[in-house]
Amino acid sequence: MNGHIEEDKIKGIYNRTAREYADHVTPCKMCQYMILLHELDLKGDEKVLELGSGPGQLSIEIARRLETGTVIGLDISESMVRIATENAEREKIGNIRFLVGRIEEFDAGERSFDVCVNSYLIHWISDAHSFLRSIHRVLKLGGKLGIISPSNEWYREIRQAYRKVMARYREHLPKHILEEPVGIKIYTEEELHELLNSAGFRISKSIAFRFREAVPIEECFRRIAAKSGEEYLSFLPEEVSGEIRRELMDEIVQVADKLNTTESGYIIIASRCEDEI
Ligand SMILES: C[S@@+](CC[C@H](N)C(=O)[O-])C[C@H]1O[C@@H](n2cnc3c(N)ncnc32)[C@H](O)[C@@H]1O
Repeated sequence: MNGHIEEDKIKGIYNRTAREYADHVTPCKMCQYMILLHELDLKGDEKVLELGSGPGQLSIEIARRLETGTVIGLDISESMVRIATENAEREKIGNIRFLVGRIEEFDAGERSFDVCVNSYLIHWISDAHSFLRSIHRVLKLGGKLGIISPSNEWYREIRQAYRKVMARYREHLPKHILEEPVGIKIYTEEELHELLNSAGFRISKSIAFRFREAVPIEECFRRIAAKSGEEYLSFLPEEVSGEIRRELMDEIVQVADKLNTTESGYIIIASRCEDEI
């Protein structure tokens, strides 16, 4: 499990919050998409797969740039797929399809895509190696993989607060929750490079980004506590989970003044190596 939140819970989170998520695509997220697109240097005839396509904006931006190519967006959340499909229809983008599913079970056939992208997904994946190997399988030789992965310092700081509180409830909690309390794994740039190399990719570009515009602290709370935190604690008796939540909020409020709430992360372009590993 790697300390990750279970996949059916992730699906539940995004099914419930899809509309809200779709309405909050920030300008800085669009900027990240534009950098990724620039680095992918699409020719126009590619077959592209996006994993965890959410409300579909990145897939739609890619599809707009393909004269003869096509895009498939895959997501485990039915609500996200519905919203993404509506968005593409509204924008009259015809060369795109959104499907419910996960890469590990996606029957695309080996070596069928020129490009695969994922944005703000890898931190949710419990077995990142097998996830990347599945991408490796469906990419053509030399095919490109583009990843946007958040690294937000504010998340790391908030995680310290989680660890501190969770440690007080050691006897109630399974070991994996104590190790990665929020249920997601935010990677460093080096960790992402290692993961990619060991899954058979060669990195051609790695860009660290940081936006100067601050994310309001309430938004950070909303993203972390209201989503992962609550879901992650839901198996506990209400008295215990309620108490943990209250303590978490107290801890977070104490560090709030010091939090650097800018968005930061990495945009990485890699390609599928020729050789099997
Ligand atoms: C944080 S959102 C990112 C959405 C979009 N890519 C973006 O850039 O904003 C994560 C998305 O990944 C989906 N997801 C989570 N785990 C997944 C998996 N194993 N396979 C496919 N989609 C997954 C969720 O349903 C959600 O729509």
